[in-house]
Amino acid sequence: MSKNITPYKNSDLGKKEQVAKMFDTISGNYDNLNRVISFGIDIKWRKKVLEIVAKSNPETILDIATGTGDLAILMAQTNAKQIIGLDISSGMLEVGVKKIADKKLSNTIEMVLGDSENMPFEDDYFDAITVAFGVRNFETLEKGLKEILRVLKPNGVFVILETSVPGKFPYKQGYNFYSKNILPIIGKLFSKDDVAYGYLSESAAAFPYGEALNNILRKIGFIDVIALPQTFGVATIYSASKN
Ligand SMILES: C[S@@+](CC[C@H](N)C(=O)[O-])C[C@H]1O[C@@H](n2cnc3c(N)ncnc32)[C@H](O)[C@@H]1O
Repeated sequence: MSKNITPYKNSDLGKKEQVAKMFDTISGNYDNLNRVISFGIDIKWRKKVLEIVAKSNPETILDIATGTGDLAILMAQTNAKQIIGLDISSGMLEVGVKKIADKKLSNTIEMVLGDSENMPFEDDYFDAITVAFGVRNFETLEKGLKEILRVLKPNGVFVILETSVPGKFPYKQGYNFYSKNILPIIGKLFSKDDVAYGYLSESAAAFPYGEALNNILRKIGFIDVIALPQTFGVATIYSASKN
């Protein structure tokens, strides 16, 4: 189980409320920040997620922790009939709703305010479920994953895109230097919430990745679990299914 890292050290709020507050605060700058901190490579990783999901020709897709909706918007290229983006931050969703309207996708993509650990969907509903840079923020990882397994259709596809930590020299050392020293400075410069990017690098370092996350997915009940490290291992795409 990962250490429970929260954004605000001296807060009485639970992790979930703190995470929602932090993302509400940074929502206006989130998209720009995202591109800067990943040098734009996240776009390539997202396209890989699209490729994996599109192979199964899904009709219904759920993008959990959708934030400002980038992955949900990309999923429209699968020609799915129904795409739902779910998030606990109303601020992030508001930005997403505008982007979806601008792209004339409001008929296909619906943004829903809700908690991944207690979702308002029936069992075995979605052909495909995605989560990009979200599972690390769940208050209780196992609870969120169990909910995902519940609403995924048998033989459906579940894809996670999440940061991970490179294991090899010199990428490991480069990554540590970047996340400890550079990332918090970029966060402070760009965002109104100077704790936010300290939290992001701390939570990334503490979160299980690779075989450790594979094993958690298997323990929950997912099958065909595969981890595909991206860009020297700074991110990993996980794909899994359900019996
Ligand atoms: C780093 S952002 C990722 C946003 C988006 N998926 C992307 O790829 O840009 C993490 C998002 O997870 C959301 N989140 C965290 N915990 C959540 C939960 N329990 N249920 C739903 N969303 C959650 C946050 O509000 C935030 O918008």
